[in-house]
Amino acid sequence: MADIIDGKAIAADVTAKVKIVADTLLEKTGIQTGLAVVIVGEDPASQVYVANKGRTAKACGFHSVEHKLPEDTSEQALVDIVESLNNDPAIHGILVQLPLPQHIDAGRIIQTIAPEKDVDGFHFINVGKLGTGEIDTAFVPCTPAGSMLLIERVLGKDLSGKTAVVVGRSNIVGKPMFNLLLAANATVTIAHSRTRDLEALCKTADILIAAVGRPQMIKGDWVKPGAVLIDVGINRIDAPEKGEGKTRLVGDADFDSCQAVASAITPVPGGVGPMTIAMLMANAVTSAYRSAGEEAPSF
Ligand code: GUN
Repeated sequence: MADIIDGKAIAADVTAKVKIVADTLLEKTGIQTGLAVVIVGEDPASQVYVANKGRTAKACGFHSVEHKLPEDTSEQALVDIVESLNNDPAIHGILVQLPLPQHIDAGRIIQTIAPEKDVDGFHFINVGKLGTGEIDTAFVPCTPAGSMLLIERVLGKDLSGKTAVVVGRSNIVGKPMFNLLLAANATVTIAHSRTRDLEALCKTADILIAAVGRPQMIKGDWVKPGAVLIDVGINRIDAPEKGEGKTRLVGDADFDSCQAVASAITPVPGGVGPMTIAMLMANAVTSAYRSAGEEAPSF
């Protein structure tokens, strides 16, 4: 029976440390870490994420700014807001919540964010730095960074000799996860919808990352006995057992059957999800340290 990796508790450790180092920076230099979150439209899941980010930023002692813009905001108006945040010395981190409405080119918006304030790690400069191993001056996307911290808590920092399979090739999770695992010396394979015999491939993994966005797709008999399973999926499914019209959150792995086989597993909710927000806070305070010319803390 696998140990359950308590992402909520580990995220609370990270945010507690963020608060301490943010307070230290403020006392030493007068600089208060500033984080701006921009949301366009009414997507309910995004609204919840953004509210959580603002609340956590305040709990960390940050200067927290939220721009809530209507669905019909023009691309140029959004560019103008991002540029004004780029030029605002009180802001060290900028996050534009995705997805954006169809009429806005998300790629253009992401590339407008100043790379040194790109706490999502989505700008080409940060993607390139991560891909070439310049991790000390990059921003690493929050979900993969948080997933790595969970893996570190179980297996340590050096994954030499371990095999890892990442299921999912997104720019936000799969590809940066590949780079982080590789940087930690794991032998890494990325699998995706065109992979042949996904089940057999998953079964070779000492570390299995589920990041496909398909509810409960990975079953216990796909998992190598003793593997560490990191479930990045957050899917809402019908839960008639809770009453008519009720729903619940599940991951990309079938938790019960996987827990019987793995040595450690992240739950959904309470696994990777809380880590994403914690790493956003870590990236923001790191950005403030860099802007002050101070050595950034590690998390
Ligand atoms: N939407 C879902 N995940 C993310 C994320 O990590 N960053 C941003 N900006 N939007 C998201």
